[in-house]
This record gives sequence, C-alpha cells and structure tokens, in this order.
Amino acid sequence: MKDPKSPADTPSDELRKQLHVLADWIADFRERIEGLRVAPNDKPGAIREQLPSRAPEEGESFEKILGDVDHIIVPGMVHWGHPMFLGYFGWTSTAPGILGEILTAPLNVNAMTWRTCPAATELESVVIDWLRQWVGLSDEFGGVIYDTASVGILHALAVAREEAAPATRKLGLADRNLPQLRIYTSDQAHSSAEKAAIALGIGEENVVRIPSDAQFRIDVNSLGQKMAEDRRNGLQPMAVIATVGTTSTASVDPVGDIAKLCRETKVWLHIDAAYGGGFAMVPEYDWLRKGWELADSIVINPHKTVFVPLDFSVLYVRDLERLRRVFSLVPEYLRGDTVEAEKNYMDYGIQLGRRFRALKAWVIWRSLGRAGIVARLRGQVRLANLLAEWIKSDDRFEVSAQPSMGVVCFRFVVPTPRGDAGPGSPTPATADKLDQFNSDIVERINASGRAYLTQTKLRGRTVMRIGLGNVLTTEEHLRKGWEIVQETASTL
Ligand SMILES: Cc1ncc(COP(=O)(O)O)c(C=O)c1O
Repeated sequence: MKDPKSPADTPSDELRKQLHVLADWIADFRERIEGLRVAPNDKPGAIREQLPSRAPEEGESFEKILGDVDHIIVPGMVHWGHPMFLGYFGWTSTAPGILGEILTAPLNVNAMTWRTCPAATELESVVIDWLRQWVGLSDEFGGVIYDTASVGILHALAVAREEAAPATRKLGLADRNLPQLRIYTSDQAHSSAEKAAIALGIGEENVVRIPSDAQFRIDVNSLGQKMAEDRRNGLQPMAVIATVGTTSTASVDPVGDIAKLCRETKVWLHIDAAYGGGFAMVPEYDWLRKGWELADSIVINPHKTVFVPLDFSVLYVRDLERLRRVFSLVPEYLRGDTVEAEKNYMDYGIQLGRRFRALKAWVIWRSLGRAGIVARLRGQVRLANLLAEWIKSDDRFEVSAQPSMGVVCFRFVVPTPRGDAGPGSPTPATADKLDQFNSDIVERINASGRAYLTQTKLRGRTVMRIGLGNVLTTEEHLRKGWEIVQETASTL
C-alpha cells in the first residue's frame, strides 16, 4: 500500500473514490436490473471456467475486481431482485435494505456479548421487540436473531429435548435408557424439521409426518391419534411443529387446535411462521395468530416477508431463559467480557461470533414504518388474487390450491371437451405426461431468462408455483409473467 501512515489499508481518499464508484454501481444496477436476464442458462461450471483456479499472489485493483463482477458474476446470477423473479417466496431487495447492509460493513463488530458491542446487543433487543409487538405476540416471549429459520428450529427443538429428557445437555443421549423421542409435523412442513432431528440425535425417522387435509393443513385428529398410539408403544412425543405458511402452498395449520392438544399432552409447540409470520402484521390477517399465545417457540423470517435483506430470522421462545439454560456456557477467556446483568446473545445459541444483523432491520423498518410494510404485503396479496383470477379464466389451467398470502400454485390440465369427465380425472399415464409438461413449462421459462418461477408437487402431481414478494414486481410484470406461461404452454 502506498500510504506510509496507513500501510495496511487503502488510503482514505482512494477509499472515498472507490465508494463513489460503488455507489454509482449500486444505483445503476438497481436501475438496469429489469434489462438483465432473470437467470443464466449456462451449464454447471461455466462461471468457474472464467475464474483462475489459484488465488492471486499479489493484490489486485478494485477496478479490476469490479470489472469481473460485471462480466462474470452478474451474468452468472439468478437475480432474485428482478421484478420478473417469481420463484420461491419472492425475495426482495429494497433501497433502504441495501443502505442498511452498506452501513453494517464498516462497523464490522462481533456482537457476542453486551460488552463486545453494547449498541449491537441493545439494538438487537429493540428490533426483536418491535417485531414482537407488530405481530401481536405477548411479552412473555423473548427472542434472538439467527441467520435462518432452520437454525431457529434447531435451537427450539434443543430446548424441547432438554425439557423432555432433562440433563441431555450435560450427559448426551447415549446409554441413558431414554425413551425414543418423537416430533410431529404435517406432510407439508419444511424439511428443516428433519435436519434439526438429525443434528440433535433424535433421528430423522422420528419426525412423524401427519397427513394434511384438502387445504393442505395438518389433520389434527390424525395428529392426536398418532401421538396417543406412540405413547401406548412406549415412545415419547417431544414436540409438534405447526406451520403458518407452508413452503409449497403457504397453507396455515389450525394452530389453535394444535396448541390445545399440545397443552393437554404437555408437548412443546413450535410454530414455523418463517413465511407467514410477517403477514400477522396485516390487520385482516390477525387470524393467523390464533394459538400463538400457547406456543413454546415461534420462528419468523423477516428476510422473507418483513423486507430485511437475507439473512435475518427471529426465534421467539416463551420465557427466553429456557433457551439460555440450554446454551449458556462461559469459558474463562470470555468471563471478563460478560456482564451478568446484561444480555449476552452468545448465551442464546451455538454461535459465538455474531454479526450486527439488527442494524439493517432497524434501517429498513424505520424507513418503511409499519404502515409501509403492511401496504406492501397487501400489494402482494392483491397480485396473488389477481393472478388466480387470470388462471381461472383460461380453461387449460387450474388453480391447484387456495391462493394464500403471496403464493399461487397452478397446473396446466387437459382442456375439457364437453361431456368429458373433466380435468380432475385424467388417466395415470396422462397425469404423468401432464406432470412432465408442467415441469417443462417451468424449465423452459427459466431457461429463457425472461421470468423465473418454481415447481412443486401437490398430492404427488407437479404444479407451477409463483411467489410474490419483490417490491419491484408490479401488476404489469405479473401480467407479462402470466402471458409467458400461457405462450410457453402453447408453443410446447
Ligand atoms: C415454512 C418454512 N420453514 C422454514 C424454512 C427454512 O428457512 P431458512 O432458509 O431461513 O432456513 C422455509 C424456507 O423456505 C420455509 O418455507
């Protein structure tokens, strides 16, 4: 480095220039994103081929690095922030979210204890509490920010395991004649349940998938029966996971009924509201919150529906001390850094080093306000319902599940000649062909770079799925997306 006073870093006037270049780059990128392909159509390895296999020996200039971002990285990306990105749970980038991320970068603290960064710790508590109030969760719940809901459920189930099999934290699972612990969730629930069971030594086969009803909600009678049957067979129900916004259809389990059952049987209730939790901020969706007051833990992903850039997930636990008891462990070399009376977030999970995630949430939530968030979520619901109407008006397609929040699942079906049995009853061979056809439509669209959607299986049949959520997606974009689906079905 050239500056003798600051040999280890870029001189500040040069950094200033680079930041201006970067500011323009970011603003230009947001402006031109619509003109980019939504997704590349390259073979695996195409990006790697353009990159040296060995790391550079000497440092390279920022200009050169940024040039490679433009020429190699950006064209090799699926642009989740593109207005025609309609896949998964339509992710979003927003200007305030970008600013929040940029602000976080120069601070670069480690928020493991209160003392290692009081502002990061206290702001984390503040934003967790804002969200709690926004979604109407009682103040019996305290929270912690993790990267993802998968990590949140792992921690929640670790506490459930400790309560079902006390002293497991200390003694582990081996040679203690513990009962076989069981976790119950619907056949529509996310695979993070099994991942957590694997990591916790409970075993993925002890996650019992309960059938869902016609609306893809867990059948509570079957749930109760299965738990009772397991008990009779000497197994021990440990937790039930109810979902508010399932991954395929965004269906909502009857959480109130599940909560009653869990209370009666003294089983931990975890609510996976990774997707649907944010919608509880919208007054007409307050029914989503039914039963939450009886839950033991609930996970919400503001990086899905409350406009915080990835990654940002909040786990709430009723009486947060239960979580601390399982994970608090202060080694000697950190003892001096902890202030007992203050919250040290390292005590609430596996992670020691923690980035300052709260800052970006604070920036975006202050920028949009509750009203701004609610208005945007309502916009997604409006678009989802509109899309469902368009689908219903084309008899080659059917809506495959009740549209829920920002999610619409639909399927190309055989056009029904008059007097025929109808699209609901194709022969198995025809249904298989239709599965392939629906999958081909999605693949063809995604390869075209014009739009991006996903596919899933419902009752064993392939359906197309659109998830709204991107703030740049307007009615015109959605209309264009729908026309691309229709056109692709015709040409195929
Ligand atoms: C219902 C549900 N739960 C949990 C998850 C896992 O979320 P994460 O990627 O934050 O681990 C997802 C992901 O889409 C999901 O849809």
